[in-house]
Amino acid sequence: MTGQSIVYFDNSATTAMDPRVVETMTPFLCERYGNPSSMHRAGREAFQAMDKARGQVSAGIGAMADEVVFTGGGTESDNLAIIGFALANRSKGDHIVTTQVEHPAVIRACEHLNTLGFHTTFLPVDRHGMVSLEDLKSAVGKQTLLVSMVTANNEIGTVQDILAAAEIAHDKGAAFHTDAVQAACRMPLDVAMGNIDLLSLAAHKFHGPKGIGALYVRQGTPMRPIVHGGGQEKGLRSSTENVPGIVGMGMALEIGLAEMEESVERMGKMRDHLVKGMLEQVEGGFLNGHPVHRLCHNAHVCLPGYEGEMMVLTLDQAGFCVSTGSACSSKGARPSSTLKAIGLRHELARCSIRITLSKFNRDEEVEQFLGVLPWVLGGVKGAMDAMRGHCEGLGSIKR
Ligand SMILES: Cc1ncc(COP(=O)(O)O)c(C=O)c1O
Repeated sequence: MTGQSIVYFDNSATTAMDPRVVETMTPFLCERYGNPSSMHRAGREAFQAMDKARGQVSAGIGAMADEVVFTGGGTESDNLAIIGFALANRSKGDHIVTTQVEHPAVIRACEHLNTLGFHTTFLPVDRHGMVSLEDLKSAVGKQTLLVSMVTANNEIGTVQDILAAAEIAHDKGAAFHTDAVQAACRMPLDVAMGNIDLLSLAAHKFHGPKGIGALYVRQGTPMRPIVHGGGQEKGLRSSTENVPGIVGMGMALEIGLAEMEESVERMGKMRDHLVKGMLEQVEGGFLNGHPVHRLCHNAHVCLPGYEGEMMVLTLDQAGFCVSTGSACSSKGARPSSTLKAIGLRHELARCSIRITLSKFNRDEEVEQFLGVLPWVLGGVKGAMDAMRGHCEGLGSIKR
């Protein structure tokens, strides 16, 4: 990536593009650059390519082609789902139910709706990050328009029971949205079977390009656009379509799903080995998130006594890319809202790291990581002891 060889273990932040996806996209970046709205052959060619990709995306989630709206990514899909649905259904209610373990794209969209006169219930979770279906039942009322529940959390990887949640929402007359950005190609998704009204995807989480996403909108669901303009995507998302991105997304999803069974099994085995190996090396260490209902590629561990950011930086020096949590918040000083929601004490939340695998990772990389970990832990311990000594020194000078 940067000349130095690296081991990339941060696949919940983003993934490497699959070379087959790059190959499919390349003509649309170079010679096949038409605007799909144009009537001439270049336009028609772009339109057909987009149409094929729409078919690939819809087939991948059990939808019909005209139920897929291409967007600029996961954040925009979540915003369109929540804000677009709420604004279109304003006369029927003013309440949204979501959870405390959503991505900021959902949380901030709901907070925005609150400024417009809606109100949102953020459901708590248990120590594994699971929402209680009883809590959900109690929270959904006559005024509830929409329940939005993440399929799988981006930090700790906990997978919710979205089928049961959708049923509860529908029984009470509310619609159901799920943010499946982390789940796609890591577990099966079927909107028809799951009785889902709205579902968000982002291509860069499954070896596709960045800056392209999709929102599934069940036929007949009333929606209002949040981006206004030329009326592309049946008026729900104006702007000239990102044809190379769309073509890449279609191919990435098709490949990801065709290879999912094998890749999920392989990632799961690597993940389990990694977790075991890490926890053996740190007394009192534990896995964050649900032990069973979790994404196959996610190892989010608390290593008490080892500060997470120092771990990330020291591992970086050793050639490993890992994260303290979600990429979006890891540069900010704010503690992770997900770790807070599962009740992890601040000192322990600070000592957590997230390792997320992909189908491109190999067993040898996991072994290399476990091999280098004692050195990394020693380095972090040394740096933390030195800092502590320095602070104590400063304290005695002040006194
Ligand atoms: C669960 C979840 N939802 C939404 C997003 C936002 O996606 P994007 O970065 O494509 O806007 C992310 C990105 O990390 C995510 O993990």
